[in-house]
Amino acid sequence: MAITRADFGPDFRWGVVISAFQNEGAHDADGKGPSIWDAFTERRGKIKDRSHARTTTDFYNRYLDDILLARSLGFGVFRFSLSWPRIIPEGTGALNPAGIAFYHRVIDAVLAAGMEPYVTLYHWDLPLALEKKGGWCHRGTVHAFESYATTCGREFGSKVRNWIVLNEPFGFTSLGYMLGVHAPGKFGLSYFLPAVHHVAMAQAIGGRALRAEVPGARIGVAYSCSQIIPFTDNENDRAAASRINALFNRLFIEPALGMGYPDGDFPLLARIARRYALWRDWDQLPFDFDFIGIQNYFPLVVRYNPFMPYLNASEVKARYRKVPTTALGWEISGNGLYSILQQFAAYPGVKEIMITEGGAAFADMAENGKVHDPERIAYYDEYLRAALLAKQSGVPLTGYFAWTLTDNFEWAEGYNARFGLVHVDFETQRRTIKSSGRWFAELLGNGERSP
Ligand code: NOJ
Repeated sequence: MAITRADFGPDFRWGVVISAFQNEGAHDADGKGPSIWDAFTERRGKIKDRSHARTTTDFYNRYLDDILLARSLGFGVFRFSLSWPRIIPEGTGALNPAGIAFYHRVIDAVLAAGMEPYVTLYHWDLPLALEKKGGWCHRGTVHAFESYATTCGREFGSKVRNWIVLNEPFGFTSLGYMLGVHAPGKFGLSYFLPAVHHVAMAQAIGGRALRAEVPGARIGVAYSCSQIIPFTDNENDRAAASRINALFNRLFIEPALGMGYPDGDFPLLARIARRYALWRDWDQLPFDFDFIGIQNYFPLVVRYNPFMPYLNASEVKARYRKVPTTALGWEISGNGLYSILQQFAAYPGVKEIMITEGGAAFADMAENGKVHDPERIAYYDEYLRAALLAKQSGVPLTGYFAWTLTDNFEWAEGYNARFGLVHVDFETQRRTIKSSGRWFAELLGNGERSP
């Protein structure tokens, strides 16, 4: 039987998500300062298709049409992020009035379209000026973030109730400061561990700044997460899985919940406590989030590997296991979503969970002006069923947001990984609703019908 909107109940929120760097373009327009991603995309060999995001989907100029498009697909929530260097070009100090005015226009358009804005403060585009002082490895960035959060709360708080402090803290610290494959391209533990600690502080301090500025705000954070499955049942593989679980799923939520870093299962993390012992930061790490956003794309199967530094574990890739995958080789598994929802709901401090991103990249087929993406429809169908089962089993799940509205700049993958419900021809900026977009419109009941 087909799933229906009614299955999720009348209060369930349905949303669609974009982010500033991936969509806005206008990289140096109207006083915007450069971000670490502007700089990173200039570096040779960092972006697979050698592209950049100077224009990307041109959301800066096309926001009105795109917001109406989101509404026409039936979504009630529009989640987007603010670009810190568009608002505060140097990261601290002088504000950019034109940048602030732009976000007022976006928020007003979302509200006028009858949608609720969910605003992310930080979706990876750190002001380059702050990176020059050490970026997230530098304690000053936490204080700069606090002022930025205060500014945003003060400026937009009368219009925006729902806030997401950070997008995927583990994603940007691991890819950007441990593996060097995302901006700012740093690698090694000497970058990663300080970045983790400062980002963990920033989520709580940013949350408190918003709380102080925006009465009645609902404040959340969006965590990347994956069900972690040991390859075999042997003890080494199980221990490897629990190390990876500590890193991928527990690293940021547990300090926020007042549980400290999960160094019992991953002793390497005890170095954070040793390094910052004198600072007495521990009482600053907790924050009472109103909701926890989870962003689950795939499960991970891991095995013991004594040759992998620090982790002593490695991934058993989906292609070796012959399981269904997306175009990026990510395993498709509704069970994985179900399981990670149960895992997060089991924390006593978690009151409400929203799926603040979910989606898939596929090579879409364009034919006679139509774009068919049956695999994406099957993906959403499977993941939404899993979400529904979890909700019915008692997980306090209150929303599902699809990543993403339009195809856009997929970080180090460039434009080849298309996640949109709407196809974008990057030569002409022409938008074409994919069959998955029509499928959502039909599910949500106030859009157009399928062809
Ligand atoms: C996570 C990130 O928040 C988003 O920016 C990215 O494009 C999607 N997932 C897909 O990888």
